[in-house]
Amino acid sequence: MASRRPARRGSGSGSGTARPEAERIEPERLRQRDQTPPSHQVADIATGDLDGLRRRWDERYRGRAAAPEPAAVLRHFAHLVPTTGSALDLACGLGGNALWLAERGLEVCAWDLSAVAIERLRAAAAERPRIAVAAEVRDLIAHPPAPHSFDLICVVRFLDRGLAPKIAAALRPGGLLFYETFTREEAGGDGPSDPAFRLAPNELLELFGGLVVRGYREEGRLAVPASALGNLALMVAEKAL
Ligand SMILES: C[S@@+](CC[C@H](N)C(=O)[O-])C[C@H]1O[C@@H](n2cnc3c(N)ncnc32)[C@H](O)[C@@H]1O
Repeated sequence: MASRRPARRGSGSGSGTARPEAERIEPERLRQRDQTPPSHQVADIATGDLDGLRRRWDERYRGRAAAPEPAAVLRHFAHLVPTTGSALDLACGLGGNALWLAERGLEVCAWDLSAVAIERLRAAAAERPRIAVAAEVRDLIAHPPAPHSFDLICVVRFLDRGLAPKIAAALRPGGLLFYETFTREEAGGDGPSDPAFRLAPNELLELFGGLVVRGYREEGRLAVPASALGNLALMVAEKAL
């Protein structure tokens, strides 16, 4: 990515008439997700200690049973999500987004470093026989997705600037990227305390400048206080045909 910071691993438009309802329920859904890496994990990322990072996420997921609700970027831009094709939930955690995409009809791959999260996701997917989710333990930095391999890629609350060109390359022509992560604005709220793991203003637009933006929200200090969107950037972008 244009502004990749050295030796760090990934950290972890309006929506018409549905908007007021969506925003009322936002804070509770964001609490349910609660996916912020604590400060020692940020240290693991900074030192490149992959085993330490994996252990910390495993520990975190061990205490969780259910997959979280789908991310705001999927809910706010649900009308842009296709119902056929192949999708990747990149750094999927417990796979709330993967399950939601699969329920819509997509064939989903879900990759994450944490074996505990992947095991939980496989169990959750097995309870829904009609859906297709191939969950895999995978270090995305060492093994990024192959070029032209997915119709949709979803990245939520994971930021590794160096991976951005590979994510864009992994989309097929006409493929869509759904990206959501923390911004530096209102950094006192949820998310990593280290600003290196948060987006600068408009940074998501710059990181994926080769794609066509189809939907974007970065409301910052203008967000409705109860909406919990004040420290998030949400983007949907399309690869040219
Ligand atoms: C904040 S969580 C987000 C999980 C999920 N996207 C969600 O929103 O529910 C960040 C995830 O990134 C994963 N992760 C961190 N570094 C990774 C890497 N190098 N390869 C694969 N996954 C990684 C962690 O295991 C963790 O599940």
